[in-house]
Amino acid sequence: MAFLRQSKGKEHTEKTRTARRVSFFIGHMDRSNVLGEVLMRYLLVLFIAIMIFPAAAAADYKELFEQEFLSKPWAGEQVEVNACIDCHSSDKMKPEFREMTEAWQASWHAQNKISCHNCHGGDPKDAAMSMSRQRGFIGVPETQDIPEFCGKCHIGILKNYLESGHGKVFKSTGKGPNCVTCHGSHDIQKANIEIINEQRCTRCHSYERARGMKQALFLVEKKMEGMEKDLKRLQAQGIFADDKERALFSTQAEFRALFHTVDVSLVKQNTDEFTKRLNVIDKEMQDIFAELRFRKNFSAFLMLLFAGMAVVIVVYSKLPKE
Ligand code: HEC
Ligand code: HEC
Ligand code: HEC
Ligand code: HEC
Ligand code: HEC
Repeated sequence: MAFLRQSKGKEHTEKTRTARRVSFFIGHMDRSNVLGEVLMRYLLVLFIAIMIFPAAAAADYKELFEQEFLSKPWAGEQVEVNACIDCHSSDKMKPEFREMTEAWQASWHAQNKISCHNCHGGDPKDAAMSMSRQRGFIGVPETQDIPEFCGKCHIGILKNYLESGHGKVFKSTGKGPNCVTCHGSHDIQKANIEIINEQRCTRCHSYERARGMKQALFLVEKKMEGMEKDLKRLQAQGIFADDKERALFSTQAEFRALFHTVDVSLVKQNTDEFTKRLNVIDKEMQDIFAELRFRKNFSAFLMLLFAGMAVVIVVYSKLPKE
């Protein structure tokens, strides 16, 4: 009996064990299906959250930035071909005149759509009449008129220049430098303090004066240079920073106009005020960088959190039930 019972018991346990094994297998399958689904859902949510969170915050910036960027003249196409450029770059033209057109094409003016007729007048739409006086053609300015020729657009600079030692001497004796002496005429590039160098500034007087001016400009120039780099970094990350760009560039333009007074002590006097104004813009940019860093860290944190949760769920699903 005892044996019977024992064998029965054994049989019983055998049976139940198999049954349990089968049911565990089936149950496990069910459970892993459910878990799989839950897991997939979590991962999907996690994925969407990670993708959307920083993107959503940047989306409005990006859109605005693109709108703004594409409307900038230097972002669009180059100046459309016109009669002046057509003819002045053709074989009809003597080589040294063709070179002028090439130089202009590589200039900052060309990038900003300042074309031949904007400086020389005339009608770029009508090849036959383009260089006629009736169409406003001015032609080549007399040397002593160059400051006004350029200054019709660069008004503040013209004013500072005319009141400066350089402007006064140029106007009275023709011995001072004019705009073209320092910037060129067709190959004009963005200005910076490297224009002040021994080669250019020792033609009429010792380099000492020029050096003093360069030193006075240096601090603010370095600051602006660093800020321009930061601005580019922001824009490269798709951040809309047009207000900062405008503020920086107008401050920069004002500061650089100051050079044309060639008054070293005036530049020194104004250094503090410009530094303060730049600091305000700089602070705003640094705040955006801080926010970006926070956003990045927060995404990483979310990623870790969800990955951790996923691991917990997987481990949990692997444990036998009971
Ligand atoms: C169909 C050809 C043609 C067209 C179009 C043309 N030019 Fe000229 N341009 C010339 C020639 C040829 C000269 C004379 C070169 C010489 O002196 O040998 C010249 C000379 C000039 C000069 C220097 C001499 C001067 O008379 O003052 C300027 C500046 C100038 N062109 C500007 C322009 C501008 C601006 C336009 C458009 C509004 C224009 N050109 C359109 C052919 C052309
Ligand atoms: C930013 C203003 C500006 C623009 C834009 C400009 N020029 Fe001039 N150009 C000048 C000045 C200033 C001079 C005279 C001083 C000099 O020769 O450097 C001049 C001189 C000339 C001369 C006479 C050169 C000589 O040796 O007699 C020609 C020709 C000329 N430009 C053609 C052109 C053509 C063609 C374009 C367009 C592709 C053009 N310029 C665009 C400012 C400009
Ligand atoms: C028709 C208007 C116009 C005329 C005329 C003109 N410019 Fe400009 N200039 C501009 C514009 C627009 C820009 C681009 C905006 C800017 O950078 O300030 C510019 C840019 C410049 C720059 C670079 C500024 C920077 O940001 O570093 C220099 C330098 C310059 N011009 C010098 C001259 C000289 C020299 C002349 C005369 C030979 C001249 N310009 C004539 C309109 C003009
Ligand atoms: C074409 C000649 C010429 C060139 C080139 C020239 N200068 Fe001058 N510079 C003058 C004249 C003329 C004066 C005023 C008369 C004087 O004080 O000797 C002057 C005066 C100065 C002064 C003193 C102004 C004052 O009011 O005390 C400074 C600073 C100066 N120049 C800087 C420069 C710099 C920087 C450069 C180069 C980017 C330069 N100059 C290039 C002719 C020139
Ligand atoms: C003695 C050399 C010299 C002369 C003359 C001169 N400039 Fe400049 N210009 C400079 C230097 C140097 C800078 C850069 C100053 C700086 O970086 O702070 C500059 C800057 C500029 C800028 C850039 C301002 C900005 O927005 O960033 C323009 C535009 C300009 N000059 C136009 C002119 C015009 C127009 C004239 C004639 C009326 C002229 N310059 C005469 C040397 C000169």
